[in-house]
Amino acid sequence: MKNILVTGGAGFIGSAFVRMMVEKYPDYNIIVLDKLTYAGNLDNLIPVHDEPNYRFEKGDIAHEATVQRVLETHDIDTIVNFAAESHVDRSILDPHAFVHTDVVGVYILLETARKLGINRFHHVSTDEVYGSLEEGFFNEGDPLEPNNPYSASKAGGELMIRAYHVTYGMHTTITRGSNTFGPYQYPEKLLPLFITEALQDRPLPLYGDGKQVRDWLYVEDHAAGIDLILHKGQPGDIYNIGGENERHNIDVIKYMLNYLGKPHSLIKHVEDRQAHDRRYALTNDKLRADLGWSPDTEFETAMQETIQWYVDNDWWWSKIKTGEYLEFYKQQYADRLANAK
Ligand code: NAD
Ligand code: TYD
Repeated sequence: MKNILVTGGAGFIGSAFVRMMVEKYPDYNIIVLDKLTYAGNLDNLIPVHDEPNYRFEKGDIAHEATVQRVLETHDIDTIVNFAAESHVDRSILDPHAFVHTDVVGVYILLETARKLGINRFHHVSTDEVYGSLEEGFFNEGDPLEPNNPYSASKAGGELMIRAYHVTYGMHTTITRGSNTFGPYQYPEKLLPLFITEALQDRPLPLYGDGKQVRDWLYVEDHAAGIDLILHKGQPGDIYNIGGENERHNIDVIKYMLNYLGKPHSLIKHVEDRQAHDRRYALTNDKLRADLGWSPDTEFETAMQETIQWYVDNDWWWSKIKTGEYLEFYKQQYADRLANAK
């Protein structure tokens, strides 16, 4: 392994992975291919910008000629695919881009790789492909029962990965990570949205009763798990990466408000998300048994570091919260907040 293409490397988790890989493996060349959608941000890559083993290419994973050019130019031998439309609420407002990138884009990457004889392909997926469960934990053999256009598109992409392994013998691996948090996360997801809004003393639109459960995974643990599976994962295998930190949304938000010294009265219960999955929970048993690994960051420590990062880096998020972002915010939240309880 020498020349690794990281698609979606200007996003939240992809950029954490790139920052880690560039430093950890000076002998590897890390090439980012990213369309720079609203969620892609070159500020996330400033720490590696001048490193000799890092390159950036702007482009769409669903555009075959671009993908082929980048794969050939950089003599790529390994692909790690983070590129995706990733926000459930946006997928409910308009699913089109989700099918384009999370299904068609995955296919174009796979097919172009196959034509060029590139055999190593790691795909970053999500626990959301399993759907929701009240009790117990999802394992890798469970059926895929996605409930919204985002998770359905991710499930579609995964099945194409599986087909390229079974049909063409490609050395694929898939990770299904749980809800990830940390620095550089676009402020539309729960934590960065609520932290940055709370810092401005603005209302926090909590969907429904706030008793939904997510399993929180620190971004550095997520990136480290992918690195391990990239090197040691078995061809065709799928691995859960859970944070082992199940929390109710409302408890996570109260913890954050307490850390910032802001009042709980900022929380506004608003109209629920359509098809809102009640609980995600998954087991790391396979990761532990096969590769002897599980995430090791302590939740409260990681939360404090994360919150403090947004406190210290308003230069990063304040310029995002303009233009298109405000349009989305208005569409998603204006009526909800006007009718909040
Ligand atoms: P993100 O939205 O922050 O970043 C996505 C990146 O992909 C952006 O840089 C964007 O510009 C790029 N991109 C989008 N469409 C593209 C296209 N057609 N061609 C090239 N680049 C394109 O997302 P994230 O939170 O960093 O998630 C990364 C991956 O991890 C996604 O595949 C997501 O499904 C998965 N995942 C996310 C979480 C989470 O909690 N955020 C959890 C599990 C899995
Ligand atoms: P989100 O960060 O969108 O991740 P996902 O939908 O992939 O789990 O949401 C996390 C949880 O927070 C989810 O239960 C929905 C809830 N949520 C709110 O209550 N209000 C919000 O404004 C957002 C964005 C999310």
